[in-house]
Amino acid sequence: MNEYNEILLSHLKIGFCGAGRMCQALARSLIENNIVSSKDQIIASDVDENQRKIVTSQLGIVTTGDNREVVSESNLLILAVKPKDVENVLKDIRDQFLPHYHLLVSIAAGIRITTIEKFLKPKSRVLRVMPNLACLVNSSCSVYSSGHYATDDDRSIVNTIFSSVGSCEGEIDENLLNVVTALSGSGPAYFSIMVDALADGAVKAGLSRSMALNLAIKTMMGTAKLLLDKNLGFHPSQLKDAVASPGGTTIYGLEAIEKAGIRAALMETVTAATDRAAQLEL
Ligand SMILES: NC(=O)c1ccc[n+]([C@@H]2O[C@H](COP(=O)([O-])OP(=O)(O)OC[C@H]3O[C@@H](n4cnc5c(N)ncnc54)[C@H](OP(=O)(O)O)[C@@H]3O)[C@@H](O)[C@H]2O)c1
Repeated sequence: MNEYNEILLSHLKIGFCGAGRMCQALARSLIENNIVSSKDQIIASDVDENQRKIVTSQLGIVTTGDNREVVSESNLLILAVKPKDVENVLKDIRDQFLPHYHLLVSIAAGIRITTIEKFLKPKSRVLRVMPNLACLVNSSCSVYSSGHYATDDDRSIVNTIFSSVGSCEGEIDENLLNVVTALSGSGPAYFSIMVDALADGAVKAGLSRSMALNLAIKTMMGTAKLLLDKNLGFHPSQLKDAVASPGGTTIYGLEAIEKAGIRAALMETVTAATDRAAQLEL
């Protein structure tokens, strides 16, 4: 983080509308990674009183049932409610939200920036980010799109905040956010299915469930690390070739994958999820 960013961050008061899983993961990371210097720099609202109690006791941040209080106590507002609840929140906050003072960052899937801008006062600064659930373990990967009035400082802050829960891969055209939602937003579900199925195969061949799951999960993690290692520089197909020796076990396994049409199924997975994201878009 550069010095200028540090100055920007020291003036931030971050307000979450919606204190669910994403809010908690982000807030915890902001505190643990010293992106905010004090818990007082964060406030969160939620309609659910029980949720508010959990967040206050676990994270030590102030919570409220009133979205307007969050706006009046913050200058960066993170919209972290489910997409169906976005309209209610925006209606709540419209009067308090000041375009020259507040920045709104939405992580709500499928809610377009223009839809958000329409609810707010003219020239409101809005950014839309697509992280994933790996926020919970500081391993999310996010991208963002900017609204018409967002500034470079706004982008820089968003970059810092979402890098603190993993990586922020930069800005993309908002029209591509549906693909991102389908790939990295939904991705943890796809990889979980693969781990589960591979473990099933090992259980079928006699391995215990716990050992099979453990090995499958760690193999997924190791593979990710191999593919991310810049010194090794493996493209996925090179890594596959490196493991598959002539006439060995891996190439037989790979043949089974190809016969089952798994590549095509995975491509279709992303296409179907992208299409669904487009259908749900508001
Ligand atoms: N989870 C993911 O993997 C993921 C990944 C990328 C993006 N996102 C996006 O992140 C957003 C939040 O997801 P999440 O998983 O954190 O959801 P969540 O756990 O359901 O949290 C949202 C919270 O907001 C509360 N809420 C509902 N209406 C409200 C209102 N009008 N004012 C204030 N709070 C309100 C909900 O209460 P009730 O439950 O009582 O309604 C809930 O406690 C979603 O829009 C999602 O699309 C999620």
